Amino acid sequence: MSQLRSRFGKEADRSVQKYTSSLSYDRRLCREDIAGSIAHARMLAKQGIISDKDAELIIMALISIREEIEQGKFQFKDELEDIHMSIEARLVEKIGEAGQKLHTARSRNDQVALDVRLYVKRAIGETMEAVKKLQRSLIGLAEANTDTIMPGYTHLQQAQPVLLAHHLLAYFEMLQRDGQRFQDCLKRVDVMPLGSGALAGVPYPLDREAVAKELGFSRISRNSLDAVSDRDFIVEYQAAAATTMMHVSRLSEELIIWSSAEFGFIEIDDAYATSSSIMPQKKNPDVAELARGRTGRVYGNLLAMLTTLKGLPLAYNRDLQEDKEGLFQTVDTLLSTLEVFAGMVSTLKVKSHRMRAATEGGYLLATDLADYLVKKGLPFRKAHEAVAKLVQYAVGQGKDLKRLTLDEYHRFSPLFKEDVFQISVESSVAARDVPGGTAPRQVKTALAEAKRQLEQGG
Ligand code: ARG
Repeated sequence: MSQLRSRFGKEADRSVQKYTSSLSYDRRLCREDIAGSIAHARMLAKQGIISDKDAELIIMALISIREEIEQGKFQFKDELEDIHMSIEARLVEKIGEAGQKLHTARSRNDQVALDVRLYVKRAIGETMEAVKKLQRSLIGLAEANTDTIMPGYTHLQQAQPVLLAHHLLAYFEMLQRDGQRFQDCLKRVDVMPLGSGALAGVPYPLDREAVAKELGFSRISRNSLDAVSDRDFIVEYQAAAATTMMHVSRLSEELIIWSSAEFGFIEIDDAYATSSSIMPQKKNPDVAELARGRTGRVYGNLLAMLTTLKGLPLAYNRDLQEDKEGLFQTVDTLLSTLEVFAGMVSTLKVKSHRMRAATEGGYLLATDLADYLVKKGLPFRKAHEAVAKLVQYAVGQGKDLKRLTLDEYHRFSPLFKEDVFQISVESSVAARDVPGGTAPRQVKTALAEAKRQLEQGG
């Protein structure tokens, strides 16, 4: 009879074994599981619950099991249900009775909670590094484009000119908030649950603080029922991941449009582009499209986790085993997306002349004309109306604003003078000289501040 089935008269049906096993994916937690077991064994000995000799045997064996796994020599057996049982079974195989003492004062319920928390802590560290890497790429591209002017859009209609650097720094800000969300989530992940047992705590004099310290946790959980059934920290990680992917997806959308022939604002480096099996001319932005597409599964994993938790009575329920696959997939998707984007953004070719040219034809300076009239004393609403009519007239004439004569301007307001022709895309950008605005002076300050924050973690 396999482990844990002494209460039954027979083995579990094959279909049940397959249905309940999580080993195919939770083997990813092997390092965390072993680290947790080593800390647990050491503490049990320190507290006199098991002998020093047994603890030593256990720890040595666990270290060699870790090596077996790393070298691909470890035999994973499906009937052992999960990574926890697999490692424990191998431990007993190696050292016999001493190995059978490891699970004293522990349940898989607090064990798995610990493993996942250790995993998410590590994932947060890697995620924050990956976010920073993409931020660095954005800053690099922004620095190279502090005087590249492009049309700014609302409703995807040309609105007002902006600096490309300013546009890129908007993404820096989004990612900065993302980094903060992960950092904040870490506070609630950083809680050590061992000692909660199956649900009620354990009848042994544990030193939970010592285990927390050895494993690098800042504090221990305060309620055993909560500790074994809490997966809020996974929801939080996934929510932060979903938000980050949403930002990358917005950037993707822009890179895709900008690399179209119609826009022609950028060219994706060959190393980050893909081609077509039939159309030889094609250079496709598949990386950006896949990031946009994969955002869907990251959202899906968040919703799946929330739905799994909804309605669960306290404390542990097997439903909670469903926390892992989505989490792993989200971490993998997010990390690979951030990584490939960092490379793609830093190698992006900007066609600044195309961006500049796109600011010429339309009516991007209309707001500047209204502001011009305001400076000459007209209330803004009146100025807005006069320029709206002027634009309507220019559209009718098929002319852009630069091509109108002063006489034509006068039909809409006598306040227009010769100096109206000094309004340009450059003057428009320079005029927006408020903190947070697109004026080159402000963007330079913003860039310096962004770099400072990246380096000092502000
Ligand atoms: N494999 C389970 C999980 O991932 C942990 C085992 C707890 N099993 C149990 N029957 N209490 O959640």
